[in-house]
Amino acid sequence: MPTILLTGATGYIASHTWLSLQQAGLDVVGADDFSNSSPEVLKRLERLSGKTPVFHRLDVGDRSALRAVFEQHRIDAVVHFAAFKAVGESTQKPLAYYRNNLGSLLTVCETMDAFDVRRIVFSSSATVYGQPESLPIRENAPLSTTNPYGATKLMSEQVLGDLQRSDPRWRIACLRYFNPVGAHESGLIGEDPRGIPNNLMPYVAQVAVGQRAKLQVFGNDYDTPDGTGVRDYIHVVDLAEGHVAALRYLLDQQPSLTVNLGTGRGYSVLEVIRAYERASGRTVPYDIVARRPGDVAACYADPALARSVLGWQAARDLDAMCADSWRWQSMNPSGFGDTSPS
Ligand code: WQD
Repeated sequence: MPTILLTGATGYIASHTWLSLQQAGLDVVGADDFSNSSPEVLKRLERLSGKTPVFHRLDVGDRSALRAVFEQHRIDAVVHFAAFKAVGESTQKPLAYYRNNLGSLLTVCETMDAFDVRRIVFSSSATVYGQPESLPIRENAPLSTTNPYGATKLMSEQVLGDLQRSDPRWRIACLRYFNPVGAHESGLIGEDPRGIPNNLMPYVAQVAVGQRAKLQVFGNDYDTPDGTGVRDYIHVVDLAEGHVAALRYLLDQQPSLTVNLGTGRGYSVLEVIRAYERASGRTVPYDIVARRPGDVAACYADPALARSVLGWQAARDLDAMCADSWRWQSMNPSGFGDTSPS
């Protein structure tokens, strides 16, 4: 049975991927430093899977700590999630973002190579498309970024492309996520942002549950059907299943690829608010305010390549995303609770 190492394993997308990998019959080894996640996730994963998680607390940029994991386990492939991911924060702390996001990728790849492990799934982002020239967005669309976070994702893809060209033994899948939202249907794991949520859905969830008074809608003067921003929201469990499909593809000796993981359907901010109100039975008050710098009007995927090459497509719609998000939020009003481990 193949063994998969997940870096950033107790994070939002990784924890859901952990479950999907186990359900697909794969063994998982998790690694995380809890810099942006909680140890409580491990207890929830054990409740959900019935298995004691195999886990190592470490910074994946720590070469000797990472080597010890490869010495202890026979790893067949790696899914590299570990990275800082806040766009706004990256503009204030660019060096920390370049050091962490690029440094950890380099350490992971060098350690993999030293142990003859050359299959990696990389967590990329639709942010590499910048301001899209046409919609839906295909994988061959022009790439550009407007912030250090997005630049680290684009540079990471370039590093992996050069690695692939230097040594064809590497099998690399770069997955460009659109807007991950929602939670596992159990309500036991979900998105648990620290401080004020940057992203729409977790903020709406906190307003619905009464933690925050009102949502600010960043502009309603975009060239979209109702004037508010349009995005391709994808259920986090669909996203997790996309990782399983990508791993099966790489383990089957298929060539490297870069692929969108989105639904191909865009929803506006106001549509999300209405869907969340239906799912929660709560009112979500909001004010229309000025646009947020750096936002694009609309962004949604052409999901055809993932469907044809990976045999994967998203199955859950916006109502399911909101219902699962609401169950998580209402069962865990304070997220995982103490998120600052001793
Ligand atoms: C969605 C829409 C906002 C918050 C970001 C990152 C991207 C990726 C996903 C990591 C937009 C509007 C939001 C709010 C609002 N992250 N909005 N009020 O900006 O599409 O993508 O998260 O890979 O890199 O850029 O997602 O959820 O922040 O915004 O009106 O309080 O909701 O203007 O139209 P975004 P988002």
